[in-house]
Amino acid sequence: MANTKLLMTFPISATSHTLAEYRARGGYGSLEKALRQMTPQEVVAEVTASGIQGRGGAAFPMGRKWAVVHPNDGQPHYLCANADEGEPGTFKDRWILEYAPHLLLESMLIASYALQVRNAFVYIRGEFDQPYRRLAGALEEAYEAGYFGAGILGTDFACDLVIYRGAGSYVCGEASALITSIEGKRGYPRNRPPRLTVRGLYQKPTVINNVETLANIAWIIAHGGEAFTKVGTAKDPGTRLISISGHIENPGVYEIEIGYPFARFIYEDCGGVLGGRPLKGIIPGGISTKVLTAKEIEPLTLDNQSLASAGSSMGSGGMIVIADGTCMVRLLQVLLRFYHHESCGQCTPCREGMGWLHRIIDRIVAGEGRPEDIERLYQISAWNDGTTICGMGDAAGYATSGILNKFRDEFEYFIEHKRSRFNGTLECLKST
Ligand SMILES: Cc1cc2nc3c(=O)[nH]c(=O)nc-3n(C[C@H](O)[C@H](O)[C@H](O)COP(=O)(O)O)c2cc1C
Ligand code: SF4
Repeated sequence: MANTKLLMTFPISATSHTLAEYRARGGYGSLEKALRQMTPQEVVAEVTASGIQGRGGAAFPMGRKWAVVHPNDGQPHYLCANADEGEPGTFKDRWILEYAPHLLLESMLIASYALQVRNAFVYIRGEFDQPYRRLAGALEEAYEAGYFGAGILGTDFACDLVIYRGAGSYVCGEASALITSIEGKRGYPRNRPPRLTVRGLYQKPTVINNVETLANIAWIIAHGGEAFTKVGTAKDPGTRLISISGHIENPGVYEIEIGYPFARFIYEDCGGVLGGRPLKGIIPGGISTKVLTAKEIEPLTLDNQSLASAGSSMGSGGMIVIADGTCMVRLLQVLLRFYHHESCGQCTPCREGMGWLHRIIDRIVAGEGRPEDIERLYQISAWNDGTTICGMGDAAGYATSGILNKFRDEFEYFIEHKRSRFNGTLECLKST
């Protein structure tokens, strides 16, 4: 992947997924350090001191999540890496699974040692073929080398890891649905409390972290939690993988230091908008984060605090670039088709609301929109806010109201003229 800039995670190469190369670069040294020189409590303390926040979307501090799991409570504990990566526009965990699978495995071993986990899981998106094969190959190598199983590195630490393949449901990336899916049941999210760290997989304390969040642990143990805080911003330390796609000259996966200037990233690192067209907007962190206009991104830096000041967030790190000339009505239609299709149907506002939103937007695009449709879209989006079991209902509402707030005139034009204001302009984009 030519478009990847690396600061901390791992320099990739054609063979960077192999154990030989990983070890030649010092791989599994952090595991050795943790097992031989640190107690599990010291590992937890380093991770907490690093201040790392989750990279899966909600930016929850990893140390706070881990602190809920009590050592020596006489129960089994479980660890699950969330490799579902279903958020549209997001493909950065895939990069770790394909090019640095041992980084994830070593980090998960350290986390398992810290959290007293005997059985760990990776829940991987069903459509991921190459990432699955790379991860499964790496796991086999790691078992052969004695990094998994009993008596790891000659200590009394034992850990086994199972890779569980999903079946293509977006909602199974939600942590409680993921657990139900591993248990062999239908992947339905469930209400909290109890938190999953109290009652999770098989009713036992379970930590679920995103692949990228976990992959930082090897670095944190090698260099220390304090060193990690020196990178990124005070409130949001470290680096982030950003997958960028859409109307951008150099799409791909980049690693940025958190707090990196947004506009510089787009115009310098990623080569600017496709075909040199003006930028219309960016969905910064997967489709569940609110769209930002070209003007809004100018003063921003790539961190949660900065994006929150503009009403959005870093989300899952999946950036979608939208060039001038793109019809936002049609774009919202694509998003709502997705949400409608993926709603698991448990909550009435989500099940009915997604269908309703989808039908209204389809009608507008078919040239049969009604003046009251815009207010209706707002209203249905608001009904989802805080009334559903999982965050998908909220997310669909935010995505809808976010686009309507900033591009309402395009919806009004479409309804009045029964066609897009941008008919034909996307064709120009295709030919650039
Ligand atoms: C509908 C839905 C889908 C989600 N999909 C993913 C996903 O694919 N990968 C992921 O890491 N987190 C996903 N999440 C967030 C997880 O529930 C959870 O917060 C995350 O895995 C925790 O890891 P982190 O603390 O390391 O970010 C999703 C959440 C929702 C509501
Ligand atoms: S919000 Fe939607 S996807 Fe989430 S549990 Fe409810 S119905 Fe299912």
